[in-house]
Amino acid sequence: MKAIDIRNKYLAFFKNHGHVVIPSAPVIPENDPSVLFTTAGMHPLVPYLLGEKHPAGTRLTDYQKCIRTVDIDEVGDNRHLTYFEMLGNWSLGDYFKEESIAMSYEFLTKELGIQAEKLSVTCFAGDEDAPRDTLSYECWKKVGIPEEHIYFFGKNDNWWIAGEEGPCGPDTEMFYDTGKPKCSETCNPACDCGKYVEIWNNVFMEYCKRKDGTYTKLQQKNVDTGLGLERMAMLLQSVQTPFETELFAPVMKKLEELQKQDFIQSRRIVAEHLRSSMMIINDGGRPSNVDRGYVLRRLLRRMTRHLNKLEIDLNNLPTLIDTSIHSLKEMYPELVTNQAMMQSVIIEEKDKFMKTLAKGEKEFAKVVTKLKNENKTKIDAQTVFNLYETYGFPSEMTLELAKENGMEVEMEKFDQLFKAHQEKSRMGSEAKFKGGLASTGEIETQYHTATHLLNAALKVVLGEHVHQKGSNITAERMRFDFSHPAKMTPEEKQKVEELVNEWIQNGWEVTSEEMSKEEAIQSGAECMFIEKYPDIVSVYSIGEVSKELCGGPHVKNTKELGHFKIKKEEASSSGVRRIKAILE
Ligand code: ALA
Repeated sequence: MKAIDIRNKYLAFFKNHGHVVIPSAPVIPENDPSVLFTTAGMHPLVPYLLGEKHPAGTRLTDYQKCIRTVDIDEVGDNRHLTYFEMLGNWSLGDYFKEESIAMSYEFLTKELGIQAEKLSVTCFAGDEDAPRDTLSYECWKKVGIPEEHIYFFGKNDNWWIAGEEGPCGPDTEMFYDTGKPKCSETCNPACDCGKYVEIWNNVFMEYCKRKDGTYTKLQQKNVDTGLGLERMAMLLQSVQTPFETELFAPVMKKLEELQKQDFIQSRRIVAEHLRSSMMIINDGGRPSNVDRGYVLRRLLRRMTRHLNKLEIDLNNLPTLIDTSIHSLKEMYPELVTNQAMMQSVIIEEKDKFMKTLAKGEKEFAKVVTKLKNENKTKIDAQTVFNLYETYGFPSEMTLELAKENGMEVEMEKFDQLFKAHQEKSRMGSEAKFKGGLASTGEIETQYHTATHLLNAALKVVLGEHVHQKGSNITAERMRFDFSHPAKMTPEEKQKVEELVNEWIQNGWEVTSEEMSKEEAIQSGAECMFIEKYPDIVSVYSIGEVSKELCGGPHVKNTKELGHFKIKKEEASSSGVRRIKAILE
């Protein structure tokens, strides 16, 4: 069965069971700079899992385009993918375990025709946070899974949460037995020897994990499921890897035709990274040195390196792009529409990378000459790191060239330096993603309060459609992004300025109150990313003019803010404007 047929069957099946088919969100989350990519079907649905009403109702189904880039450097084996499609169905406080399990079983055995004896399932064993999931166990028995195919595991295996906090719960996972012999007496679905392949995960989301590590009950019991499409296609087509399915086979074949060196791993990396990159570019991503752009850059550069390894002329890139799109267009017709654009982004990045490599090679040659003059045969870790940091020269290139020159490389120490560097940038981006408030000195605190006033004033002057889309504060200025379809007129800007200054002079008190997130929403408090907040939130009020869910800190009285002045108003992205303003 082709992937598109599995997807269509899935959506039709759940539609027949009362679900509304909703569209896939982009792989780049809309208006949510706090995460890099959409990593699961539930991601765009978090507010609804937390209790907000979804306009399409309480039973939803979709296919979701996902990017997961942990272990990007491991992709190229026979199962890791950076892009994948997740089929999902959701109950938002509607059905729960029994119906969910019955539907999954029916879909697998009747619609996909998987033999029941090929299935094994796992349930949550229970711990101090949540009880053993005996109901799921009973439900599986009831539909016909024999007891010896039902396993219980702890949190590591049978509890699902996206990240560190938020909606979560015990899950029940379905596994396909490939028929390989058990790797040991104790081989079971938690073992990754390859006998059991996980095919579907049903999460019973009735908990919310708080920042402090404790769990509370959500206001409703949800079901969140995820079925990996590529993996299912692979199993139903009785092939060993996703690269042999119709999604990748044509491009794999093309690579084989073009290659002068034969490396299956490299072919997989090229095919996989090309597809992933196209999906990111198609949804608006562009290569850069930060965040999402950097992930895309790494994918494209790694792809280019492996094309070089296969000794494939890079002028073949357009052909490879065409081939890949051809096999994906039935599933993602939008790729065809954006084909020319994607091609130019990919080729431009390839050209940049080739220049980087050329520069790096030159620098490398200098290093080698110097070392040879000094009669040394070892390149130290710091030099490798500098080549990487200053010239973007990949360490494996250094390693390769060093070998060619009969030199050794302090690779272990380099790995340590590199890890420390990664950790630093990870911490940097985490701090950045916390809410645009990097340091909280006195001036930054004033600016932070001013963003609330600006937000409220924009609503008065431009309309209730205005919502904050992001902010960034330094000791010199504030930057504030908000939804609004048009450039602001000079009059509008003036009105906003006057209103903010009037409120500052009024000397409004800034007060905060703790309440549950639901209460906060009901109170009409303004909030940017509801799913990013813990269960109990702080709501900051500024006199009668503003009420916002926020982590603070704030000044005590608006009088402390001085005079507010808009320096610039410009476009930020489609439908989002940006104001730069100062307090003087
Ligand atoms: N959200 C669950 C997962 O990603 C279904 O596995």
